[in-house]
Amino acid sequence: MDAQKLISSIGLVAGLVFLPGLVRTSFAIDRPIHSSIVVLAVCGACIIGLDRTRALKDTKSHRHRYGPIPLEDASDRRISGNRSVHGEENGSKQSPLSSLRRLRLVFLILVGALCARVEVLHQVAKGVQCTRGSYQPFLPFLLAVYDFAIIRRHRQEWKPDEEQNGSPFKQVFARLSRHRYMLVLSTLLLGLCSSLELSATAPPSSTYICATTLPTFTLVPAIQLLGLFLDALIFVLVFHILDLGSDSPQSNVNAPRIIGWAFLLSAVVWTIIGALVFFVSPDDRHWILTPDRTYLWSLFNLTLAVCITVLFAVSVASRSRPVSFSFLVVFTLTGMTALTSDWSQHIQNLGFSDKLNFVFVITIFVADILYAVIEMSAENRSRSSMKNMSGVPGWFLFSIAGLLIFRLLFGNPYLSQPSSHPIDTLIGRARSQHDLWKKQASSSKSLSDAVAVYRQRYHRNPPPQFDIWYNYATSRSSLVIDDYDNIYNDLLPYWSLSPAEIRQRTWEIIANPWSDAGGVHVRAGSLEISANMPGTHRWMVDGVTHIMEKFAEWLPDMDLAFNLNDEARVTVPFEVLEALKVTSSRAAQSKTPGVVGFSNERSSGWAPIPEQPIAESRFQQRSFQRTFYGFGAVGCPPSSRAQKERLWNVKDLCTTCAAPHSLGYFLSNWTLSASVCHQPDLADLHGLNLSPAAFKGSYDLMPMFSQSKPAGYNDILYPSAWNYMDKVKYAPSPEFPDPPFSNKENTIFWRGATSEGVSAGSGVWKGMARQRLVHLANNATTPQLVLLPQPRTNKPTYIMLEPTSVAAILNSSIRLVDGIARCGGRDCPDQTNEFGGSAPRSDFQHHWHYRFLVDADGAGFSGRFLPFLQSGSVPFKTALFREWYEGRLTAWRHFVPLDLRLHGLWSTLAYFAGVDGRSIGGRVGKWEARAKEAEDIAENGRKWANTVLRKEDMEIYFFRLLLEWGRLTDDRRDELGFSV
Ligand SMILES: *[C@@H]1O[C@H](CO)[C@@H](O)[C@H](O)[C@H]1NC(C)=O
Repeated sequence: MDAQKLISSIGLVAGLVFLPGLVRTSFAIDRPIHSSIVVLAVCGACIIGLDRTRALKDTKSHRHRYGPIPLEDASDRRISGNRSVHGEENGSKQSPLSSLRRLRLVFLILVGALCARVEVLHQVAKGVQCTRGSYQPFLPFLLAVYDFAIIRRHRQEWKPDEEQNGSPFKQVFARLSRHRYMLVLSTLLLGLCSSLELSATAPPSSTYICATTLPTFTLVPAIQLLGLFLDALIFVLVFHILDLGSDSPQSNVNAPRIIGWAFLLSAVVWTIIGALVFFVSPDDRHWILTPDRTYLWSLFNLTLAVCITVLFAVSVASRSRPVSFSFLVVFTLTGMTALTSDWSQHIQNLGFSDKLNFVFVITIFVADILYAVIEMSAENRSRSSMKNMSGVPGWFLFSIAGLLIFRLLFGNPYLSQPSSHPIDTLIGRARSQHDLWKKQASSSKSLSDAVAVYRQRYHRNPPPQFDIWYNYATSRSSLVIDDYDNIYNDLLPYWSLSPAEIRQRTWEIIANPWSDAGGVHVRAGSLEISANMPGTHRWMVDGVTHIMEKFAEWLPDMDLAFNLNDEARVTVPFEVLEALKVTSSRAAQSKTPGVVGFSNERSSGWAPIPEQPIAESRFQQRSFQRTFYGFGAVGCPPSSRAQKERLWNVKDLCTTCAAPHSLGYFLSNWTLSASVCHQPDLADLHGLNLSPAAFKGSYDLMPMFSQSKPAGYNDILYPSAWNYMDKVKYAPSPEFPDPPFSNKENTIFWRGATSEGVSAGSGVWKGMARQRLVHLANNATTPQLVLLPQPRTNKPTYIMLEPTSVAAILNSSIRLVDGIARCGGRDCPDQTNEFGGSAPRSDFQHHWHYRFLVDADGAGFSGRFLPFLQSGSVPFKTALFREWYEGRLTAWRHFVPLDLRLHGLWSTLAYFAGVDGRSIGGRVGKWEARAKEAEDIAENGRKWANTVLRKEDMEIYFFRLLLEWGRLTDDRRDELGFSV
């Protein structure tokens, strides 16, 4: 018996340790009701199935062990009658009939409670951004209060008899443990400490929007509270059933099996409700009929883990009392959360005082001792209808407490405060990074140098006409001659396709107007736009040909497909891409010497575009749908977090996702921050991932030229006509001048529309970056962690501030204009209510009045970034999309990078704009504005943009890209090349 008890306890604890991590990243929580049905049904079936075998054994051992000792049985019965709840007369033996009726009632209530709990889970998961703390640590307290109200109140103090002759210590112990308020007090203490501990170690809030104007704002915390009461109710009911079971060993009441049936029945109830929904909602029908492998696998894991834990829990519960059982559950969960919560370690250089933590751990430790006291006294008394043992070995709790203290003393990650400001470090680093980049990008001084460097970098000869390109570039004083890695990387996978295949696929795109692509035909140096192109985007392809005209005479005959949507189009799954890359690099590495020009007769290789559009397409329509797991992350390795984890809890800032590219709260590696593979939380943080306006994606390598793409997409980037055609332009005027930096307003400024994605009634606007930006600046309700000067020393330290205090020390003007765009259903009024009216439209040239300009991308790249760079203000750039010039600019030298999570916005602004904490009391010190650093970035950005991002640079890049493309599509591509 003892061994089994120990195994069950350890199994339960192991399950509790393992489960939270599994749940945190599980895809199954996206469908809480469906998942709950499966979990409940499987668990119910397991309990029933296992109990059948175990029950047999139990009966035997029961007879064998307790048969000869009728006295104990009788006394048990008496005590249990004494503490019974539903009011039958004290001490009298209940009739089997009334017992059965009572059981039926308890069973039905349990089913109802389980069903309600599923709905609570559903609501909380749906509104998780509005959850507040965790109420669950108060579960033992609730049960203790119940216990007190029903049982202890009526009981007299225990007479000290057998303890009289113990040691004085034992006597005090015994006396203390016997006190009638002891249980309530110690569980209350545990609840308080645990919830404080949890909130102290909880990660900071993300910028995901919990709209204060929506009912969820108050409803979700209320539902959380309801969940706590339901949990308590379920505990009480389960223990009642176990109790009744052990009360009447002769009446064939098999307690665990009844609990199993309750699980099963609640699954059935929800299935019936689900079936009704299934018939009315086509979305759900579609979802069920096309099961998703990731979801099923996640559900399988979750079900397995939950059921094993539940089985152990039932086993432990049948041997312990509700309070001590819930004590164990809560204690393990909190202890483990505290133990494993080292989020601040993940954002490096984030200093925290652990004094508070220390207090909490100590108090938990004390609660632990109190608990042990209670348990021991319970054993001493041997009062138990619940069997006279606790299910929880005291040594176990002590060892968890020991671990906590051990970690506190030896594994403390928090002690270091940042000694200097991280931005100082980052700016210094950026300077040397930029110098290195510049050197390698422009090392060659002659054509033969350039050819040699090309061979060395890209392991093959330059394309035909390279000498013409070289002259073109140098005559336009291009600084960048050597570094065209972006072209190389974009084209590399396409080397796995034969030239004929590439031509065929280009034809497939252009021949079907549904592809949303514009075709451009190059024939004998002149350009023609494909006739079947949709008219709305005419300006774009006109712009493209406008750039191409500059160098078209040297281009070989070919057709090109230009993406007319802002959104990117092509993602090749990781395994396929890896295989392609192997073939590609082999194909790309031929080094035949000599000058070989493009083939003649190329034009015949490109099939004419039919009058009648073709019907088939390899693109899949995914507009208004989530695209992260379907497209954005498919290029990531299967072992990467983006493929394995679903971070459904959008309330928490995923510090571990930001850590690889961060220094404290600041973005430290712009290149790495583009990769989604370590950032599964981005699934909920950008319009493209949540609900793009136009998304037609392909898993096949389709040769599509796009203006911008997130990392992981395989579109081919080309310089957008938007900037080339001056759709927005840096053009200060006497009316809107660009004043010297010191005369600009010390404010961060943004105006824009909600055009990042379409929120058509599903509430996804709460995650979109632009909305989060506006919300953070104007409507934030959660405290913000900001790197600020300490009160007296003015050293940088992370301080938690209320949003009103942040607004008092930092100036921002971040507003929406033009009402709410791209919305549908209730999301339109919801956003209008939350954000208030939109700001009046301001002239684009008004931007230069402000020192700091936010640049957030939208449905595609941000067209304003170049004008911002050219101005004398500092751009703060946050973006999922990357453009053709990626790599030319260095973050922290030419612009200030912001993480897409936006958590570092205030800290970054505080550094550059300065803060004076006097206006908000003594919590914050004073920093002068770092106007010199800011002005340096503005000036460096302006100069560099006028060196490497000119219109000439766009032509030069595009020219070289199309020469490479010409070779790639040439049947003799292995022989082609230029050499000197
Ligand atoms: C930034 O990340 C990239 C990609 O992982 C890496 O190659 C580069 O070395 C990193 N740069 C710095 C300064 O750490």
